[in-house]
Amino acid sequence: MHLPGVNNLVAVASGKGGVGKSTVSVNLAVALSQLGLRVGLLDADIYGPSQGTLLGIPPGTRPQVKDKLLQPVTAHGLQCMSMSLVTSASTPVIWRGPMASGALQQLLTQTRWGELDFLIVDMPPGTGDIQLTLAQRVPLSGVVIVTTPQEVALLDARKGIEMFRKVEVPILGIIENMSLHICSQCGYEDAIFGSGGGAAVAEEYGVALLAQLPLNLATRQQSDAGYPIMLADPDCDTSRALMAAAEVVAAKATRVAGPAINIIDD
Ligand SMILES: Nc1ncnc2c1ncn2[C@@H]1O[C@H](COP(=O)(O)OP(=O)(O)OP(=O)(O)O)[C@@H](O)[C@H]1O
Ligand SMILES: [Mg+2]
Repeated sequence: MHLPGVNNLVAVASGKGGVGKSTVSVNLAVALSQLGLRVGLLDADIYGPSQGTLLGIPPGTRPQVKDKLLQPVTAHGLQCMSMSLVTSASTPVIWRGPMASGALQQLLTQTRWGELDFLIVDMPPGTGDIQLTLAQRVPLSGVVIVTTPQEVALLDARKGIEMFRKVEVPILGIIENMSLHICSQCGYEDAIFGSGGGAAVAEEYGVALLAQLPLNLATRQQSDAGYPIMLADPDCDTSRALMAAAEVVAAKATRVAGPAINIIDD
């Protein structure tokens, strides 16, 4: 089975949780669509899906099913699919790794994605089963690694880079998130999670540092409001940096014609 109509699959990953993968994914997706590209967003976080919230999709929204295929839900011009659209919010998903990997593959392949230039895949944290399955079975054009400048995040970012390298997925670059905190009251700049870490890892692996995004209130508020900063304030520093990153991603990711994805029913 393959994904007809999807030209480029780009994963957004990290080793560590909570560094901003979902925030970067949604804003990168919006930036690519602002470049005139057709973009979809797959929330691959089976256990803790967040794209429904980030995209402002009303709770309880369910995808339509046509010819046994899920129709993506459109939000802010993006085609979206997430576990949160097919499970109830109050019931935690408790699955073992292989089941979760299977669910993710189903979500990916049993969705009728339209013609897409890019399908951005918001990965769950870590370098476990789900990440490895996705990296191995899905013809990714590349991966964007998100990290904070903090040493514990960088350690995990290295693990992420190593994993994708092992399965020969090109690293499109690193986005350093929460680089600097700029006080919304007085403008004072504080490197809360340290500085220079993203650049150091980028240099270590010979990959691009795509952006350094500040830690700020507006980014978090817009995420919670379901209206990404890229739409709310396209001229702010964060959005400009994301747009520059999107331009590089769009240029680097090359069309992947195959191989076809093999679905193993187990
Ligand atoms: N640059 C930023 N400025 C302010 N808040 C941010 C920024 N980036 C992310 N956040 C906030 O930090 C939290 C974690 O971000 P996010 O959910 O994107 O991380 P994640 O890596 O996807 O987490 P998980 O590993 O749980 O999937 C969220 O509350 C988000 O709104
Ligand atoms: Mg996330």
